[in-house]
Amino acid sequence: MSHKTAGLLLLSLLVSSEALRILVCFPMTSKSHSILGHGYANRLLDAGHEVVHITSYPSKKIVQNLTEIDVSYLQDFFKEQTMNDDAFKLKNMIGKKNFEESVFFFYFVFTMHKNFLTDPNVIKLLSDPKEKFDAVVLEWFFTEITVGIPALLECPLIWACSTERHWQALRLIDEISNPAYTLDLFSHNRIPLAFWQRAEGLWKVVKRNVQLAIYYPFEKWAYNSIYPEIAAKRGVTMPSYEEAMYNGSFMLLNAHPSIGGSIKLPQNAANIAGYHIEKTKLLPKDLQKLMDEAKHGVIYFSMGSIVQSDGMSEQMKRSLLDMFSKYEQTVIWKFESDLTDVPKNVHLVKWAPQPSILAHPNLKLFITHGGQLSTSEAIHYGVPLVGLPVMADQHYNMISVEAKGFGIKVTLAEDMVPELDAAVRKILTDKTYTNRAKELSALFHDREMPPGVALTHWVEFVVRNRGAPHLRSPAIAVPLYQKLYLDLGVVLAIIIGFIVKVVKYVLSRRSNKQSKEKSS
Ligand SMILES: *[C@@H]1O[C@H](CO)[C@@H](O)[C@H](O)[C@H]1NC(C)=O
Ligand SMILES: *[C@@H]1O[C@H](CO)[C@@H](O)[C@H](O)[C@H]1NC(C)=O
Repeated sequence: MSHKTAGLLLLSLLVSSEALRILVCFPMTSKSHSILGHGYANRLLDAGHEVVHITSYPSKKIVQNLTEIDVSYLQDFFKEQTMNDDAFKLKNMIGKKNFEESVFFFYFVFTMHKNFLTDPNVIKLLSDPKEKFDAVVLEWFFTEITVGIPALLECPLIWACSTERHWQALRLIDEISNPAYTLDLFSHNRIPLAFWQRAEGLWKVVKRNVQLAIYYPFEKWAYNSIYPEIAAKRGVTMPSYEEAMYNGSFMLLNAHPSIGGSIKLPQNAANIAGYHIEKTKLLPKDLQKLMDEAKHGVIYFSMGSIVQSDGMSEQMKRSLLDMFSKYEQTVIWKFESDLTDVPKNVHLVKWAPQPSILAHPNLKLFITHGGQLSTSEAIHYGVPLVGLPVMADQHYNMISVEAKGFGIKVTLAEDMVPELDAAVRKILTDKTYTNRAKELSALFHDREMPPGVALTHWVEFVVRNRGAPHLRSPAIAVPLYQKLYLDLGVVLAIIIGFIVKVVKYVLSRRSNKQSKEKSS
């Protein structure tokens, strides 16, 4: 045997012995979150691992080492609650209070995850004792009832956090971040915080924790009613909900300080924003031609997949078309239905290959709702933004973009055209925004390793080191009263009280004695 073949054999042995079997679960049923799920599956496949991916948007492609568990009918519930609901039409979202902080949000999140866990195909997979995995990647989306999955499969849990880092997710592996200098994901404030903003931040954390305490029994009930039956089939005893909940080995965050905040992370967390972005694909022929031939450049406009552009009022659609018609740039607008009297320079598309559009050298500006996928793709390609945030983390993201200087946030309103037009013209003429976007893009890419490689590195690391318990934060086991030293405060108060009593007693004895001596 030559050295070369021996080497190859050794290499193949090494690779196959390291090939892992990973379960990737993305219960949040929106299109954008599913793209993030495919990112995990694809990066793990790239590294030669075997992946079972439970997804509501299956790729339906035959890929070696990939098994997709199709839960696409779960989209029905999601669409019913959001896209098909009049309340989520763009025209009805203007000036609305955050629904993310309402009871409806809990109902929505809870039902979505419960539907996921009670899906027959998911139960079948989890019940089969022959199904063995090395790790489970679980998307975290405002509930923890899915934590029974890694416990059932007796393998480490790796959280996938699809948003910027924030306290509610971080509390599962560390502690609640200090609201004096970190923002709630649904905050509209900006760091550094003024006095009342700090108070508001603290209030948000307190209020949310009260809500979590109220929801907890429902979640615990779901956990205790779903898993034990499946566990019996596998011969596994379930840990308590609490034990399973705080047993995450690692958290991978769809975040990066170049676009978001620079918040400290425990040792078992890493920023991997950008991991989902594939090698740039060619544009469809018509779009390629359109963008190539746009002498004055292209403006791309998309409001994302949940609160869509076609939900705008007639008046808003017309005023935007009118605004676009005055630009010399070509405008590509992701618009989900049809429109009449569209100006010559406006091109409507029902579906947009967003990363490929952002990658085109003629693209000048992206008008976006400010979702995390859009802001991270924009910074990946160094494109400046005008943001029209509607809900969820979009305000947080756009406030950060504006603070970093590569975009302008505009308040969504029926009569927003003058403000929007001014923002668009400012970015098209003032080169600092584009330059800043390029600068931050360089920062975004300047890392120890590309985010997709970091993703597989940490998954492999956790498996190799049996859950990597040495990385876990000790803060997780310390109750809040101990962190605030309330117990020490009580002890000190007792000691001081005792000393005061003794001193008072001694003084009173002495003055009694003195008065006795005087009178005698
Ligand atoms: C599939 O996995 C096997 C090991 O389980 C590995 O040897 C092979 O290279 C993988 N195939 C691909 C296309 O990654
Ligand atoms: C917690 O995770 C580790 C690592 O995967 C595992 O060994 C342990 O059994 C888990 N504990 C519980 C209570 O689930």
